[in-house]
Amino acid sequence: MELSLETLKKIDEVIPKYPEKRSAALMVIHFVQDELGSISDETCSWIAEKLDLEPINIKELITFYPMLRETPWGKKHIRVCRTLPCALRGSYKTCKVLEEKLGVMEGHVREDGEFSIEFMECLADCGEGPVVMVDEQTFENIEGKKAEEFAELILEEKLDSSKSFTSYEDALVSNNSKSKKSQNK
Ligand code: FES
Repeated sequence: MELSLETLKKIDEVIPKYPEKRSAALMVIHFVQDELGSISDETCSWIAEKLDLEPINIKELITFYPMLRETPWGKKHIRVCRTLPCALRGSYKTCKVLEEKLGVMEGHVREDGEFSIEFMECLADCGEGPVVMVDEQTFENIEGKKAEEFAELILEEKLDSSKSFTSYEDALVSNNSKSKKSQNK
């Protein structure tokens, strides 16, 4: 298992911030998963040794929290919210459209490893459902025909440059820079 110097630095900096080494376990797991995509048995043992724990102490965290993985998701990971507010606005249909267009069932990774879909609980943007996350970008109101166009753009790798869909995170950055400009006038 190889980690970048940047990740190793983050790990070494975060551990002393906790009164006991073991309390840093979730942070360390997240740093490692961010880089490697999942936590294998070998990685599990490495983290345990780093925190003076047994591998089972790390394994029990990975198998308990749904955001933690023992095997990697696809290169592009799509999360669709299935909690009631989004479900009432059509997220089940959205998930179906994405499954059909991207050629992978939710909970699985496409055979070529390109895409995976996860149908999961609240993505914390309940007023603008159906909410879909593509990797770390959040997209709102992805229903009906829009879901089809959305899936096509993912397939063609044109979502980032699309004018039809702006992620919540990108909109936030552009609104902040606009308000700074108007304050400077
Ligand atoms: S219910 Fe979908 S984001 Fe909260």
